[in-house]
Amino acid sequence: MTIPFIIAIDGPAASGKGTLSRRLAEAFELPHLDTGLTYRAVAHALLESGQPLNDEDTAVEAAKAIDLGALDPAVLAVHTIGEAASKVAVMSRVRSTLVEQQRKFANSGRGAVLDGRDIGTVVCPNAQVKLYVTASPEVRAERRWKEVQERGILKGMDASFETILSDIRLRDERDMGRADSPLKPAEDAHLLDTSKMDIETAFQTALSIVKSSKPE
Ligand code: C5P
Repeated sequence: MTIPFIIAIDGPAASGKGTLSRRLAEAFELPHLDTGLTYRAVAHALLESGQPLNDEDTAVEAAKAIDLGALDPAVLAVHTIGEAASKVAVMSRVRSTLVEQQRKFANSGRGAVLDGRDIGTVVCPNAQVKLYVTASPEVRAERRWKEVQERGILKGMDASFETILSDIRLRDERDMGRADSPLKPAEDAHLLDTSKMDIETAFQTALSIVKSSKPE
C-alpha cells in the first residue's frame, strides 16, 4: 500500500493559509480539510444550544457529534464563532476528540491537505511536507479588513482596521500561548512569510516547495 501524501499547513489567522490550502488541494487533486472549521463547529453547536463555552464535558460531546462532511463555511465563517472557537480550542479533551477525526481524514485515501494550527506538530507529524504560513499582524489585519468590506463577515460588530488588528493580536496570543498544542512551526516546516507577496506569488512559492517534496 502506498503511504498517503499529506500536506500540512499551519499559521495564524488571516495568514493566507486557507487560500493556499485550497489551491494546493486542487493542484494535487487531494481532499482538503480546514481544521479550523471543526473547532468552529463545536463552538457553533454550543452557542446555538445556549451552553457555556468552557464546560469540557459538554464541549467533548459536541466534538464527538461533528460531521466532517457537513461543515458549512458560510455559517461558520462569522467572526464571533472564530473567537468562540479559540476558547473551545484550549480544552485538551476537545482537541483530542477532533484530532482523532482529523487524522482519520488525513489517512483515509491517497493523501490530503489539512490546514490549521497544529497539523505539522500534532495531527500529522509525519506529513511529507509542512508549510508554516505567516505574515505580519498589520498585513493580516489589512487583508481581513478588505475581506470584510467585500463579504461582510464581521456582521454586527465594529469592523474598523484597529479593532481587527487588536483582535488578530488577541487571537495570536491565545493560540500561541495555550498549553496544549500551541501554534508554532514544526521543526521541519518550510516557513513562508507572505507579508510582501500577493496570493499568486505565495501560491507559486508553496507549489514549488510541495513539488520538490513529492515522491514521483
Ligand atoms: O483557522 P480558524 O480561524 O478557522 O480557527 C479558529 C480557531 O480554532 C483558531 O483561532 C484556533 O484557536 C482554533 N484552531 C486550533 N487548531 C486548529 C485549527 C483551529 O486550535 N488546528
